[in-house]
Amino acid sequence: MNRQEDRNSAIIGSCIGEATPERVTFISKGVPKVGEYVVLEYDGRKVLGMIEALVRGSVSITEDILDPSDVERIKRIEGDIDHYIKGTIRILGDVDSLMIPRIPPPPGTEVKRADDGVLQNIFGNNGRCVRLGVLLNHPNVPVYVDVNSIISRHLAILAITGAGKSNTVAVLVDGILRYGGCVLIFDMHSEYVDTRFKHGDVNPIETKINPLYLSFPELSKLMKIGEKAYIQERYLRMAYNETRERFLKGEISVTEFFSSMKKTLQEYLRTDQYKKDKNSIMGVINKLDELLEKYGFILSFSAPDVVDTLKLGAANIVDLGCVDEEVADVVVSHFLRRILQERKNYKMRGEGLRFPILIVIEEAHILAPKDRDTYSKYWISRIAREGRKFGVGLCLVSQRPKSLDANALSQVNNMIILRLVEPSDQRHVQAASEMLSDDLLAQLPSLNVGEAIVLGLMIKIPALVKIDKFEGKISGGDVDVVDEWRRLHFQEKDSVKREHEELKQLMGDW
Ligand SMILES: Nc1ncnc2c1ncn2[C@@H]1O[C@H](COP(=O)(O)OP(=O)(O)O)[C@@H](O)[C@H]1O
Ligand SMILES: [Mg+2]
Repeated sequence: MNRQEDRNSAIIGSCIGEATPERVTFISKGVPKVGEYVVLEYDGRKVLGMIEALVRGSVSITEDILDPSDVERIKRIEGDIDHYIKGTIRILGDVDSLMIPRIPPPPGTEVKRADDGVLQNIFGNNGRCVRLGVLLNHPNVPVYVDVNSIISRHLAILAITGAGKSNTVAVLVDGILRYGGCVLIFDMHSEYVDTRFKHGDVNPIETKINPLYLSFPELSKLMKIGEKAYIQERYLRMAYNETRERFLKGEISVTEFFSSMKKTLQEYLRTDQYKKDKNSIMGVINKLDELLEKYGFILSFSAPDVVDTLKLGAANIVDLGCVDEEVADVVVSHFLRRILQERKNYKMRGEGLRFPILIVIEEAHILAPKDRDTYSKYWISRIAREGRKFGVGLCLVSQRPKSLDANALSQVNNMIILRLVEPSDQRHVQAASEMLSDDLLAQLPSLNVGEAIVLGLMIKIPALVKIDKFEGKISGGDVDVVDEWRRLHFQEKDSVKREHEELKQLMGDW
């Protein structure tokens, strides 16, 4: 191909009609794709744009035809129907600086396919990036995202079930481990516990809380002492402080903590001075019993503080697959509080959690729901707001974005949105991200597994990305029910057959 032909093959169409500095309409003979990058030359610069919307039409077969036989007649007369493709291009900026020119492209400007070199430059690795995949419409161009931006501006991974969220998490985590980073995953479905990462180990973290690290407000929340139950709170605080003092003096052992606290409360019942508050004290005792009944199995005085168990260069995984949502909420909120607190301590006093961390929260709509208060929601919001200063990043993963707390979502600057079908989910996501245009939004239902719109400060310009397939193993995913039944069925048949043969042999021996 000579240079002239090469130039012509790169031309897809021309700008038409009225344009703004951000958007222009174009017309084309070929069939470009939504999400494809194009280059327009005007005002002495090369400007990059992305095709956001496309329509296909014909001048002869128009919408005012009401009789199908008319279409047949036109087709007979015209032979091949002459069609056109009309679309809009979102202008992303000068190919070098990505600054948007202040003037719109003039009508007639040629629309050229962006060459791979230009795109590789934009989506390449600056030495602090993780590879996510390749551009959907330019498969020779790898896409990297900036890790610093993910930690400081957080990330949401949103899509329907089966669209590839967990695969994306695994690709991202492996990339972070390559830098010797630290990730903590709250694994709601025991998906990641057996995962093998190429660049780091898995460090399982016990789903236990040491009551000694519980704060008083946490204890009182766990015991469901209402915010306005001042009297109950006062007696709980008195009993808690007395017991703590006795423990610190070595008068009671750690395992006697709660029984000793209960005894202290029972003594209050017998004290004349507190007689008037008898019902409140009884209430506290009942709530303490309920606490031990409900959460006793996650409370362990021998459990280390979570901050001491986190490993650098590893995927630290809290397996929450075997506990119910309420217990998961208690564990997650406690761990989030300890991590934020110890990162603050480290920044201020040089003591505490030494390294920055990315916290992945699967099923984020359960832990930070829109219409209910949970313990975790409070700490997720706190980290979303303050985490940036202390190197604590959040990655919220959800298949029901519309049920996710809008406040937390609006603090998240980076998004990876895979297939998303429900309009209410899409609107909720759009409300939280000014970068998601109507045209990009319209792409969401037609994405295939592993295809995503990637937006935010972690990437220089929005992109449609085919996420890499994670090479290690993730254990989650749907169970093959039929296979399980079949296996058990044959196992049973096998054992009946074996019993039969054993019996036959026994009879023979006789
Ligand atoms: N980028 C991808 N390339 C190839 N296969 C993928 C990709 N993403 C996901 N898959 C496959 O699709 C299935 C569902 O992916 P998963 O990540 O578990 O979805 P989700 O977490 O959204 O429910 C898995 O079998 C996975 O291997
Ligand atoms: Mg998943």
